[in-house]
Amino acid sequence: MPMNKFTTFFLVSLLSIFAVVTAFPVHVARDVFVPPITSPNASTVWYAGEKYNVTWETAGAPVNITNKYGRIVLATNGLQDYENPIAANFSILLGSYEVTAPNVTTGNEYAIVLFGDSGNYSPQFTIINDEA
Ligand SMILES: *[C@@H]1O[C@H](CO)[C@@H](O)[C@H](O)[C@H]1NC(C)=O
Ligand SMILES: *[C@@H]1O[C@H](CO)[C@@H](O)[C@H](O)[C@H]1NC(C)=O
Ligand SMILES: *[C@@H]1O[C@H](CO)[C@@H](O)[C@H](O)[C@H]1NC(C)=O
Ligand SMILES: *[C@@H]1O[C@H](CO)[C@@H](O)[C@H](O)[C@H]1NC(C)=O
Ligand SMILES: *[C@@H]1O[C@H](CO)[C@@H](O)[C@H](O)[C@H]1NC(C)=O
Repeated sequence: MPMNKFTTFFLVSLLSIFAVVTAFPVHVARDVFVPPITSPNASTVWYAGEKYNVTWETAGAPVNITNKYGRIVLATNGLQDYENPIAANFSILLGSYEVTAPNVTTGNEYAIVLFGDSGNYSPQFTIINDEA
């Protein structure tokens, strides 16, 4: 019966795929790491142009991280400026990275997003700019 043939074919295909997958296990198990940001936080105030440390916890870091290169971007009102990072290409395992507060207008709806594997938002904080 064609149906049976098809079913058999389907099952065999499925088993073959399974066999291939188990025959070539991924050698290095990569884990997603989403580090909690400790600063900036809700009580943080940055002055545009001044230097600050962005800090995050590294305690829970898996041994093999998918993307160990960090990137810090500014989010204004929840909107990320991914293309113009405040910092990039540092190790996500550092736990701290010095950045210059961007030259944005004064406001309290800023957040930074720390990327390793996936973006992790800080709480919203204030940036003060006396020039703009
Ligand atoms: C991490 O990767 C190494 C190989 O680079 C591997 O031997 C080890 O089992 C991996 N550890 C975890 C927890 O996935
Ligand atoms: C919040 O951020 C400030 C720096 O802006 C830091 O001094 C403080 O320790 C942080 N608070 C917590 C709970 O991590
Ligand atoms: C950032 O942290 C480093 C290491 O603790 C320290 O040397 C540096 O002065 C800090 N930078 C700022 C702007 O606080
Ligand atoms: C990070 O590294 C990539 C590749 O080397 C480079 O294209 C990019 O400009 C770097 N970004 C920063 C902010 O340094
Ligand atoms: C910051 O932005 C303001 C307004 O756009 C500009 O007048 C000023 O020169 C900028 N300052 C720096 C340090 O880039």
